[in-house]
Amino acid sequence: MVTARAPLVVKLFGEHAVVYGYHAIAGAINLKIIARVELQSQGYLIESNLGVERLESLWTEKVKHKYVVKALQVFSQDVLGRDVDPVKITIRSPAPPSCGLATSAAVSVAVISALSKLYNAGLSKTEIARMGHKVETLVQGRASPMDTYTSTLGGLVLVCPQENRLVKIQDVERLDLSIVLARRARSTRELVHTVYRIYSRYREIVEKIFILIDTICLEALEALRRRDTEKLGMLMYTNHMLLSSLGVSNALIDYLISCLRERGARGAKLSGAGDGGTIVVLGRLTREIEQTAREVLRERYVSAMRHIDVDNQGVEVRD
Ligand code: MEV
Repeated sequence: MVTARAPLVVKLFGEHAVVYGYHAIAGAINLKIIARVELQSQGYLIESNLGVERLESLWTEKVKHKYVVKALQVFSQDVLGRDVDPVKITIRSPAPPSCGLATSAAVSVAVISALSKLYNAGLSKTEIARMGHKVETLVQGRASPMDTYTSTLGGLVLVCPQENRLVKIQDVERLDLSIVLARRARSTRELVHTVYRIYSRYREIVEKIFILIDTICLEALEALRRRDTEKLGMLMYTNHMLLSSLGVSNALIDYLISCLRERGARGAKLSGAGDGGTIVVLGRLTREIEQTAREVLRERYVSAMRHIDVDNQGVEVRD
């Protein structure tokens, strides 16, 4: 049996714009997906908090575990040149699926890393990240490399899609963050498509929004390095307003972010594809802020986590 652990990812700046080639900043965090892979005599068995799924073939259409099955397919085609042998895959996640913390990217990265070890394929972290990104693109239609690369490499990462480069931000080891999770109504695929629709229709305006998000991202890089939390917070709020203008927020989230600002949170924004999911807050959540989140989100409130640390390891594998 092989076990891989891949960190979840919080999006600090630049999500959505990154899909169109603009900069983004993401951070691997100390919450990890665990994928256990073991050979079995026949068929494929996948267990996770989505349920239990048995498959005779890897090429079955309409599966529940889309990312796991796509990762098995990509590894079969690109590495083995034949189907992966019958395996049982167990996925454990510290957060619900589609919560804005890149669970799907971390699942893809963890499964590919475990398979690489199981078959002694010796894939490098860059190859694992590239294959993880391929899995996301095949399942979602459009995806930037941000989530899969950050989960694979760990740490805080500046994504520079135009130069096809991801740079680890070396001199920031810690960041005082909290997160609030809210139930989502729309999937990442739908939200990425929402932005594409508005981009196709109002290209000149939306490109200017993306350019502003890009500037925010580069300013945030400097603020992170100088530990200028006041500026970082202001940039988070501004990035949130721009995400909202792209149609990926909702009334409850916008109201919550305004309340957090009024009650003194240093910075807050949606993180990830949007419509709920993760709200990332700069600094510790006070009881008052946590209570505000519960009251505003009501039945869409899922949970709040007060101590989120940066994970610097990235994906790890053990026999
Ligand atoms: C999703 O976690 C982040 C998006 O920017 C999509 C992507 O980068 O693939 C919305």
